[in-house]
Order: sequence, then C-alpha cells, then structure tokens
Amino acid sequence: MLTGRRIVLGVSGGVAAYKAAYLARRLVEGGAEVRTVMTAAATEFLGTQTLAAITGSAPLLDLFGGDDPSPHTNLARWADAVVVAPATAATLARIAAGMSEDALSTTVLAAWGTPVLLAPAMHTEMWDHPATQRNVATLEADGYTLVGPESGALAGGDEGPGRMAEPEAIVAALVRMLGSGDLAGWRVLVSSGGTREAIDPVRYIGNRSSGKMGNAIAVAAAARGAAVTLVTSVPPPAGERLPIDVVSVETAQQMAQAVWSRAGDSHVAVLAAAVADFRPRDPAGTKLRRTDGTPAIDLEPTPDILQGVAAMSPRPFLVGFAAETGSLDEAVAKAQRKGVDLLVANDVAKEGSGFGTETNEVSLIMPDGTTEPWGLMSKREVADRLWDRIRKMRTGDPH
Ligand SMILES: Cc1cc2nc3c(=O)[nH]c(=O)nc-3n(C[C@H](O)[C@H](O)[C@H](O)COP(=O)(O)O)c2cc1C
Repeated sequence: MLTGRRIVLGVSGGVAAYKAAYLARRLVEGGAEVRTVMTAAATEFLGTQTLAAITGSAPLLDLFGGDDPSPHTNLARWADAVVVAPATAATLARIAAGMSEDALSTTVLAAWGTPVLLAPAMHTEMWDHPATQRNVATLEADGYTLVGPESGALAGGDEGPGRMAEPEAIVAALVRMLGSGDLAGWRVLVSSGGTREAIDPVRYIGNRSSGKMGNAIAVAAAARGAAVTLVTSVPPPAGERLPIDVVSVETAQQMAQAVWSRAGDSHVAVLAAAVADFRPRDPAGTKLRRTDGTPAIDLEPTPDILQGVAAMSPRPFLVGFAAETGSLDEAVAKAQRKGVDLLVANDVAKEGSGFGTETNEVSLIMPDGTTEPWGLMSKREVADRLWDRIRKMRTGDPH
C-alpha cells in the first residue's frame, strides 16, 4: 500500500501519543520507510526508544547538537509525505502561524510543497476554542489535510469531539492523499445489513444480518484508496472515520433505488446486504391489535437488486453474496443464474460464521461453477482477500 514511500511521522505532546507507536507500526507494515520527529512534550507521553525500535531510526528531537547540520531540511526533503499524529492545539497553532520553533514545526514548514496530514487530538473545549478553529481554517486554506478528530471517549473520562482518528483511518487518509493504495482511482459501491419490511408502523419482517461483513468490505476498500459508497441499513463502521460516503436505507425498495442509481457510475459493486425476498403487500397504516384476531399477511416479491445491476449496460464488476445453510448447490446455481462475476457463499449455519459474528467462513463461486472454500477467518481478512481477488480479476495483475 505504501511500499517504498518515505513518511515522516511527527508526534506532539498529547495523551494520544501512545497511538503514534501503533501508527508507526502500521506504516512500516504497509511498506513505508518511516522517520520520526517528536516535540519535547511528546517525549513525556511516549518513549523515544519505542519509536526508534519500530521504525529503525531514532526520532529527531532537536535542531541543534546532532550530527546532521540541517536536520529539518534534510528530513523534509527526504519525505514523500508528513503525518503529524497526534497534532496538539499548540502544534497546530505553531504550524498555522508559521512559528518554526521546534524540530517538528520547523520540519513541517521546511516540507512546504510536500503533502502534510494532520491528525488533531485534544479535549473538546480546546478543539472548540475559536483560536483552534481559526488555526484549523488557516491550515485548511493553506492546503493541509486534516483527518479527524472523532467524537468519542477522551482522556480523563470526558466524551466529545477531539479524539484522534484511529491509526487505520490515518493510514487510509495518507494512502488517499498520496493516491497510492492498490484500489486508488476505483469507485466502489458496497451494500450491507439486512432490510426491514413494514408489517405495520411498529413491526417489520427482517433478518439476522448485522452488516459486519459488508461494512468490513467497505472499510477495507477505503483503506486501500478506493472511493467508497456504502448503502446500508445498519450504523456505518464505528470509530474508523474513513472516507466512506454512507447512504442509509431501510427497505429492499430503498436499497434497490440507492444501489441502482449509483451502480452505473461504479467500477465495482459488492452487494453483501441481506435483502428481503418478500415484503407485506399492503402494510397496515395503524398498529395491528391482538383483539382484532390473527392477521393474514399477504406477501409480494421485492426487487431483485443483484439481477438489476447484472442487467445494466455497462455494468460494474459485480460481486454477490449468498447466505447458505449447508450445501453450496443453490449458491452455484445462483452464481450462474444471476450473471455475477463472483459469488461469495456464506455458511450462516456454521459455528463462528455468518450473522453477527466477527469471523466468517465463505466459499468463492466463479461463474463457471468452480468453488473455492476459504477457511474460518476474520471478516476483515475475508474483505481484504476478496479485494485482492477482485483486483486480480479486473486488472489481470497477480500481485
Ligand atoms: C496529561 C496531559 C494531556 C494532554 N493532552 C493534550 C492533548 O490531547 N491535546 C493537546 O493539544 N494538548 C494536550 N496537553 C497539553 C500539551 O501537552 C501542551 O499544550 C504542550 O505544550 C504541547 O506541546 P507540543 O505541541 O509541542 O507537543 C496535555 C497535557 C497534559 C499534562
């Protein structure tokens, strides 16, 4: 994802500095060469040796007294991109004002012309302060990219905006900024969750889908640089603040409209939602009462979303999902009948697989009926392997 990229990670002095170690690790795992620069306050929160051990080189702490006569300009010239995570209110203020008074802010100023990503982290009051908001506006106007902050639990038990974006989201933002993910330039449409079909204003016909598989597919694609639209009936992926465009729907009809109106403009559609096949023909306008006797609910078919996309011309590379309980025969028949490029059959009856679990056991089914069973793995791993396969099939690139 970031193979061969030279990334300078700047760490300033907030509690979230502990997450910078994990971020450094993710960058290294992504193939980047990483060098670090820390403020004096950052060293109060995170040991310099931790970053040195993860990245293979000691953090730059000071402009003076070292072997390098001009460490900030050399580091800035070396970098393909600079990430400051966490970026404290003070560090944001320094960069916004051009106050190059420590190794970090001086390196950022010297890196003018190089993409810089800032991941602010601070208490809500500090974030909301007009001075910080003025600085953020200035930084954005100057062309800096910000990722986060998120809303959530803060140090000291507080809650609100100010929490640093998760390392995963920072890596994804960096990949996107550099246009370097292996799915960069791809427009991807994903559906997730189960639909709800009204019986009356309080009851519905639904299913057990949690949306975790589809959400993992959307997250994985965004993390690899794709522009992702997620059509979903469940809350979108929490705590990841990835650049995902979320369209919330409830019924099969709404999902069909949302998917069909966007599929033509997508390179790939992965339809992982569990869509109702039938809905009440005539939902009651008011709550059905026990005293009125047992109602007969007449059903009618819902739109076939997968088939609708398969019939489009031109149409995206199309991946369908099938929830099965045991034999794959019906899934193989479905793959051939629906005209998809790939079908993922999901054994929802197996332990640790299917609805609501963190793991999944799937089989890939090709249009010619060949099947490829994958073992039990996390839903994120299924998602990444699926994107590897889709990429290979679309581009012919085996890597
Ligand atoms: C326990 C503790 C936690 C802090 N957390 C933050 C923080 O999350 N964000 C922030 O902007 N400042 C935070 N500060 C204040 C900064 O450490 C302080 O403003 C410092 O001067 C920042 O310097 P730097 O930007 O050079 O690293 C915290 C201070 C303490 C004592």
